[in-house]
Amino acid sequence: MVSPVLILFSAFLCHVAIAGRTCPQPDEVPFAVVVPLKTFYDPGEQIVYSCKPGYVSRGGMRRFTCPLTGMWPINTLKCTPRVCPFAGILENGIVRYTTFEYPNTISFTCNPGRDDMPLALSWVLESRQRRSLVAAVTCPPPVVPKFATLKLHKPSAGNTSLYQDTAVFECLPHYAMFGNDTVTCTAHGNWTEMPECREVKCPFPSRPDNGFVNYPAKPVLHYQDKATFGCHDTYSLDGPAEVECTKMGSWSAQPSCKASCKVSVKKATVLYQGERVKIQEQFKDGMKHGDKVSFFCKNKEKKCSYTEETQCVDGTLEIPKCFKEHSSLAFWKTDAWDVKPC
Ligand SMILES: *[C@@H]1O[C@H](CO)[C@@H](O)[C@H](O)[C@H]1NC(C)=O
Ligand SMILES: *[C@@H]1O[C@H](CO)[C@@H](O)[C@H](O)[C@H]1NC(C)=O
Ligand SMILES: *[C@@H]1O[C@H](CO)[C@@H](O)[C@H](O)[C@H]1NC(C)=O
Repeated sequence: MVSPVLILFSAFLCHVAIAGRTCPQPDEVPFAVVVPLKTFYDPGEQIVYSCKPGYVSRGGMRRFTCPLTGMWPINTLKCTPRVCPFAGILENGIVRYTTFEYPNTISFTCNPGRDDMPLALSWVLESRQRRSLVAAVTCPPPVVPKFATLKLHKPSAGNTSLYQDTAVFECLPHYAMFGNDTVTCTAHGNWTEMPECREVKCPFPSRPDNGFVNYPAKPVLHYQDKATFGCHDTYSLDGPAEVECTKMGSWSAQPSCKASCKVSVKKATVLYQGERVKIQEQFKDGMKHGDKVSFFCKNKEKKCSYTEETQCVDGTLEIPKCFKEHSSLAFWKTDAWDVKPC
C-alpha cells in the first residue's frame, strides 16, 4: 500500500523537476538596458542586454536564457563610452576639451580679431554646397521679353548662367512691367517666370472746373507721363498738383478746384493751427477749401468758454451756432475768447 503523503511528495518533486525554478530580476550592467525587464522569469525565457546610445559593448554575451536552475549565468558584458575622433586644431583659435569620450562637449574660440571666423566658415560651406549644385545646373541665356531690355546680367560661367544667377529686365519707355523685373536661374535649369512689358495709354486728363491742367503735347499719353493741375483765383486745389499715368492706364489722382469761403463774421478771435488769430485779419482774402478754425463759445451757467471747430468746404463756412457776435456798441459784454476756458 502506498501512503498518500508519499504520492503528494513525489508529485511535488516531479513538478519541480519539470517546471524548474524562476529566475530573479537580472543584475544591472552600467550603461546597459535589459529587455524585457521583469521581477521574475520562467525557465526558458530570454533576455537581451544592449548598451545605451553613446556606449559600445565590450566582451561577454548579450542574450541569456533563464535556466531550470533559476540562476542567471555570469554576465561579463561591459558598456564603454564611444570615443569621438580628434577634433583637429583651429588656426588662430583655441579648441577646449577634457576628453573625446561620450558624453562631452568641446568648444572653439577664435583669437581676438578673428570674430569673422564662424561666418567665414559657414560661407565656405555654403559656397561649397552651391558649387556642387552649380556643377549640375545651368540655365541658357535668358530670352529677353518683348518690349524689354536686359539691364543686368552677369553669367558666372562664360555665356551660361549657373544656379541662383540672376538677370534684371527693364521695359522700353511707355511700357509698364507686369511681374518681377528680376529672374533667377532655378535648380530645374530654367529661369523663374519672365516679366511682361505692356504698352499702357492714359486718356487725356480732363480740365477741372475753375482750374486748368497741363500735359505733354503728344497725340497719345503713356505710362509715367505726368500732368499738372492748377486753379483760378479764389479756388484751391483738392488733391495733388501733379499726377502720373499708372500701369492701370488711369491717372494716379483726379484733383478738383474748390471755392474759398468768405468769412461772414466781422470780428472774432479763433484758434487756427493751434494759435489764437483775429479771423477778420487772418482770412482777409477768404479761407481756403479745407481750412479749419475753432470758434470760442460761452457756457453761461458755468461762466467759462469752450471751442467748436468748423471747416471751409467748397465755399461754405458754417459758423457754430453757439458763437455769439456782439454789436460793437455792446461794449460792456465780454467776448467768449476773453472768458476763462471750462
Ligand atoms: C560668348 O558668346 C559670344 C557671342 O555670343 C562669343 O563671342 C564669346 O566667345 C562667348 N564666350 C564664351 C566664354 O563662350
Ligand atoms: C523679385 O524676385 C526677387 C528674387 O528673385 C525677390 O527677392 C524680390 O522680392 C521679388 N520682388 C518682388 C516685388 O516680388
Ligand atoms: C521650370 O521647370 C520646372 C520643372 O520642369 C517646371 O515645373 C517649372 O514650371 C518651370 N518654370 C518655369 C518658370 O517655366
